[in-house]
Amino acid sequence: MPAVSASALADDVGEILLTADQIAAKVKELGTNIARDYQGKDVVFVSILKGALPFLADLMRATPIPLALDFLEVSSYGASTQSSGVVRILKDLAHPIEGRDVVVVEDILDTGQTLSQVFEHLKAQRPTSLRLCVLLDKPARRLVPIEIHYRGFEIPDKFVVGYGLDYAERYRNLPFVGVLKPEVYRTAP
Ligand code: IMP
Ligand code: MG
Repeated sequence: MPAVSASALADDVGEILLTADQIAAKVKELGTNIARDYQGKDVVFVSILKGALPFLADLMRATPIPLALDFLEVSSYGASTQSSGVVRILKDLAHPIEGRDVVVVEDILDTGQTLSQVFEHLKAQRPTSLRLCVLLDKPARRLVPIEIHYRGFEIPDKFVVGYGLDYAERYRNLPFVGVLKPEVYRTAP
């Protein structure tokens, strides 16, 4: 049986783009800004499963105001690094957002196809306001323009993993954001 070491996952990473400390500092800043803007409002963080989970968990604890959580699950990429451009809603919100202030919390904005369709879906439910908080922004690949109210980091046009982001469902549990070594893609099942 091959040995499984604690660092096996991290060994597949060729370059660390953002350390856990850099992410933590940025999340604190974003939470402070959101708390300032939504003081006294009926705010719901709507997050998109599964990639945004670590970001959401940290961001909500950095946002010291009353808030509710809800989730959407959409499919866009499958086990590939290229977007199919087709977004399907796999799981819808559990509670109505009509008349509430919604902040969509997302891990990464790439082509914008996923979020533009998610925004249309949410707008149809008549929230009072709708804003986007995104940890990572990859502007080089944008196909659909989207306004970002709260942005963590702008990153180069590289496929990244970690802190919730996956390649074929792996690497979500890395505490940092990095780029995989090219040989990892070549040997992928
Ligand atoms: P978009 O529709 O092209 O903006 O892609 C949005 C979704 O694609 C994100 O929510 C991620 O799930 C996935 N995605 C885009 N870029 C990356 C990446 O570099 N690593 C991992 N997932 C990505
Ligand atoms: Mg995602």
